[in-house]
Amino acid sequence: MPDERLAIDGGDPVRSEPMPKRRLLGVEEKEAVIKLFDEAIESGNAFGYGGPAEAAYEAAFVEFMGGGYAKGVNSGTNAVYGALGALQLEPYTEVIVPPITDPGGVMPVALLNLIPMVADAAPGSYNTSAEQIEPLITDRTSAILIAHIGGEPVDMDPVVELARRHGLRIVEDCAQAHGARYKGRLVGTFGDTAAFSTMFGKHHCTGGQGGVVYTTSEALSWEVRRFIDRGKPFGLDAPANVRAGLNCNSDELSAAIGLAQIRKLPQIVSNRRRAADMFAEGVSSLRTVSRAALLPDTEPVYWFLRVRLELDRLSVGKEQFCAALNAEGIPVTASYRHIPCEAPWFRDRRVFGTSGLPWSAPQYGGDRSPDFDVSNTIAATSEHFNVGIHENYGQAEVDDIVAAMRKCEQAYAR
Ligand SMILES: Cc1ncc(COP(=O)(O)O)c(C=O)c1O
Repeated sequence: MPDERLAIDGGDPVRSEPMPKRRLLGVEEKEAVIKLFDEAIESGNAFGYGGPAEAAYEAAFVEFMGGGYAKGVNSGTNAVYGALGALQLEPYTEVIVPPITDPGGVMPVALLNLIPMVADAAPGSYNTSAEQIEPLITDRTSAILIAHIGGEPVDMDPVVELARRHGLRIVEDCAQAHGARYKGRLVGTFGDTAAFSTMFGKHHCTGGQGGVVYTTSEALSWEVRRFIDRGKPFGLDAPANVRAGLNCNSDELSAAIGLAQIRKLPQIVSNRRRAADMFAEGVSSLRTVSRAALLPDTEPVYWFLRVRLELDRLSVGKEQFCAALNAEGIPVTASYRHIPCEAPWFRDRRVFGTSGLPWSAPQYGGDRSPDFDVSNTIAATSEHFNVGIHENYGQAEVDDIVAAMRKCEQAYAR
């Protein structure tokens, strides 16, 4: 007889087998890399960067996006850096940044001597919206940096309209949203520039680290190329480097992996959507757990699956509920509270030594307080948790997730 108690209380877990591995890298990537080495050994020339493999990967990326221009870089952080830097925003202007994002999705703002202004999330969301952005706009604002967190698209039409009305640039951070769609259109195509992370944990990768800067503007694509490669005068008739920039280049090896990977991306996206839909269907009869409400007319790509918990119907808090799920063999993350203005570097103004720059610059005439109203964000992070689904989760895994949630609900419902 199975022990029906919760596993956290000593009972048998719903799932005793580990969840399936992603198996993101396979023979296709291995063969692409071996081919590169074979060519290097045969020719005597080391593979470098900016060669045929990068061109092929960038062309495949552009094809996936349905047009535009792509430039491989060496991380998602540097993709954000490049996507912002290409816009040549005036230093000490304000950039509105996402309520939840990876540190690498916001640090480039301050490193470019721009002032990050943290927008709150839309109610019930990890993402911001035009309503939260608008009150932050001043005559010092130069750009809006959007992040489609968890692969859920931001409500872009009102953001685009707002930016147009105020003459602001838009940068989309699509690190977690490869292939996500808003009203049928791929995220990354709404802004002036967009950044993708292609480190190994993302939907598709270029190896251990990597990123892509994407734009639909040819003029901006040249700015991107120059800025991510020390200001080299690409597309210009200039004798030497035209502006200061870092070396954020990708390389042939990463691109060879990326080319094999991007061919797998459509399947990865559709499998994740299928798993998320099966989950939503599975938990529809539960009273305390549901898939987080999605914006209408969006097709998320579920970098993780955001789950809403009705805490007022439970006798335990979210931490306990999630600990119980983990004990049942279901990997979940209780909290995704990555709010830029709560981070020590942001609060302590530690960007350029102890100078307090960029906030302390005499040229900056705005409010220097590190405090922002992120009450919706805090509420959303306390009412949701993340299930780490991926493309190899099928019906059996989803059934186990749902069964564990049902079991925890029955034990903890009030
Ligand atoms: C939203 C977002 N932006 C930026 C980054 C930074 O990307 P990377 O880790 O490739 O530098 C990440 C990484 O997870 C991210 O999730």
